Amino acid sequence: MSSHPPSSGDVRALYEEFPYPLPNSGTEPIYDVAMGLDLVLPSLDDCQVMDAGCGTGHRLVGLALQYPDTEFLGVDFSEHSLSVARELAKNHECDNVSFRHAEIGGEHLGRDFDLITSTGVIHHLADPAGGAAWLQQHLKRDGIAYTWYYHPYGEFDRLLSRRLVHTLMDHSVEDISKTVLADLGLALSVEQYGTRTSFAEVSAETQLAADADAYLHPIVNAYRFQEAADFFRDGTDWTVVHGINWDGGSSLIDSDHWAEGEFGTLASSDLFQSGRLREVFAGMPPEVQLDCVELRLRPTGFTLLSGNEAGLDRCTAQTRANVRNANLLRMSAC
Ligand SMILES: C[S@@+](CC[C@H](N)C(=O)[O-])C[C@H]1O[C@@H](n2cnc3c(N)ncnc32)[C@H](O)[C@@H]1O
Repeated sequence: MSSHPPSSGDVRALYEEFPYPLPNSGTEPIYDVAMGLDLVLPSLDDCQVMDAGCGTGHRLVGLALQYPDTEFLGVDFSEHSLSVARELAKNHECDNVSFRHAEIGGEHLGRDFDLITSTGVIHHLADPAGGAAWLQQHLKRDGIAYTWYYHPYGEFDRLLSRRLVHTLMDHSVEDISKTVLADLGLALSVEQYGTRTSFAEVSAETQLAADADAYLHPIVNAYRFQEAADFFRDGTDWTVVHGINWDGGSSLIDSDHWAEGEFGTLASSDLFQSGRLREVFAGMPPEVQLDCVELRLRPTGFTLLSGNEAGLDRCTAQTRANVRNANLLRMSAC
């Protein structure tokens, strides 16, 4: 039985045992972050990018292969994950990526970045605000942060199941961590965060890594859009919702075009079939529109973009429009 509040050491121990997203370096990179990055920054040439909490590097190597003229650094505190990541990069002859063992929230790395990606990390930190501040301290003046979080509305059932798993494990006299998920019939849906684009196939080891992260993890937080944005209030001028994921789907936000919904972006018709309700939606202030998006779609996850005024020039028109219309840092901090 454990009674101490979970610590950063407990988080590291989980990833030493269950490196994420895949423990096997003979697998393919994951391109979901890489595929959409040109919708954030039209060019990454000659840029320096950090992936904070890169894990086994599948998303980072996807990025490094997609952008051969950009220098990438993967940072993680799990040696096991980093050893898989190094091997994966070698297997794919990726010479524009390096790795560093470091703790997010620990000492400054001594260099700044044009772009920092950190997907699925901040919500697992013992000090999430401190971790987000550490990321901001590593941004160049015109640097951009790309971060991804769990959302409590779409994750409600999963988070309750995780609490049940922990309650059972905490009260068992023997270690049931290897059997409890099967005994409860729990397995994370492969479409929990959208359509299955990230993995070519779902193997037993993919499922195990996802299930360990989803149900056995000692620290899991989930945030509404505004709550996560508030982590960036002190260190950046703007923070916007870039994309949302829900069970079976995902979309980008283009707040200039709610009515049309270009390919891949969310339209008001995705939220409301009724023309009457679409009209109500069109007349709402931006922060209330975002409330409606959360309440109607009940996301499982979402991506935020954050930066300073100086960084806006390097962003796409879609991101600039979102900053103009729906900068969460200009909205309430409650
Ligand atoms: C859910 S995994 C995400 C991996 C990768 N970003 C992805 O999306 O595939 C979280 C990663 O963050 C790392 N991590 C968690 N807390 C950390 C900390 N304080 N310092 C460094 N790495 C950390 C873990 O070791 C793990 O590899």
